Amino acid sequence: MPILGIDYEKCINCGTCLTACPLFRRKNKNKIIFRNIQNFCNLCGHCIGKCPEDAILYEDMGEALAYEDIDKTENIADYDTVLKILRANRSIRLYKKQKVPTDFLKKVFEAMSHAPTGGNMRSERFSILSDKEKIKQLSNAVIEELLKDPQMSARYKMLFSILEKTYYSPVFFDAPHVIFVSSSLNWASVSNNIGIIITYGRLAAQALGLGTCWNGLVQVAMLNNPEIKKLAGIRGKRIGCFIIGYPDEIYHRSPPRSIKKVAGLEE
Ligand SMILES: Cc1cc2nc3c(=O)[nH]c(=O)nc-3n(C[C@H](O)[C@H](O)[C@H](O)COP(=O)(O)O)c2cc1C
Ligand code: SF4
Ligand code: SF4
Repeated sequence: MPILGIDYEKCINCGTCLTACPLFRRKNKNKIIFRNIQNFCNLCGHCIGKCPEDAILYEDMGEALAYEDIDKTENIADYDTVLKILRANRSIRLYKKQKVPTDFLKKVFEAMSHAPTGGNMRSERFSILSDKEKIKQLSNAVIEELLKDPQMSARYKMLFSILEKTYYSPVFFDAPHVIFVSSSLNWASVSNNIGIIITYGRLAAQALGLGTCWNGLVQVAMLNNPEIKKLAGIRGKRIGCFIIGYPDEIYHRSPPRSIKKVAGLEE
């Protein structure tokens, strides 16, 4: 049970944890106690985050982190900066040959580990393929699978034949690494989780000078033919995939996007 209780040496009985979670309650109108009734605790860590005295006892959950402006998040990066970061994010389809140092990849996976998931379930597993020949094999299998479908074939046959002239592994644009996020849970919400996890990873990669691109084609091919997952060494019902490497292209401006009308928004 990772939330172990309260360190009463530190606790000042302020009651803040009561606002974080119903598993904390006042006993006899005085001392606050923690009870994990019906294993309700989903390890969200809100109690750890809110306690001003760092008095919540826990284990096997990683480490909580206090840093400047964690309590005033708008000071960490202002809106304009965040928007610039988001608008700078591009799908990169031209990569340098060099591999990404493991330390950088670890940082990307670290950021992915901090993505929120429905109910804080965290069923998703991460893996990476960095072997050029294995990536090629997977690319071939994805193309072969997709072209079996007449609609896909009509859309992609010509594109793949063009890409094959430039790329050794056209599906992956010769990126040096392919990252997978997979889960054995076949819930629709897991696909949301995977999307968010990949977005965290891609934004972290951008901050490290790396380029990335989502890969939906792999997802479709693996859904149609689960055997393809073996080539990536992954299992699971729901999967997501993106490529990562050093970009060999530069964007001088953020492309235009029409701003959506919002139903119900007051002017
Ligand atoms: C869920 C998802 C799946 C995608 N799948 C692919 C893909 O298989 N291959 C590819 O080249 N780009 C893929 N993309 C990238 C989109 O084409 C790209 O985001 C879009 O054209 C906008 O370009 P930008 O990301 O540079 O702004 C995917 C993007 C998303 C969000
Ligand atoms: S929030 Fe922390 S200090 Fe305050 S009552 Fe709860 S455990 Fe004690
Ligand atoms: S980790 Fe979340 S669910 Fe568990 S006790 Fe703390 S606030 Fe409640």
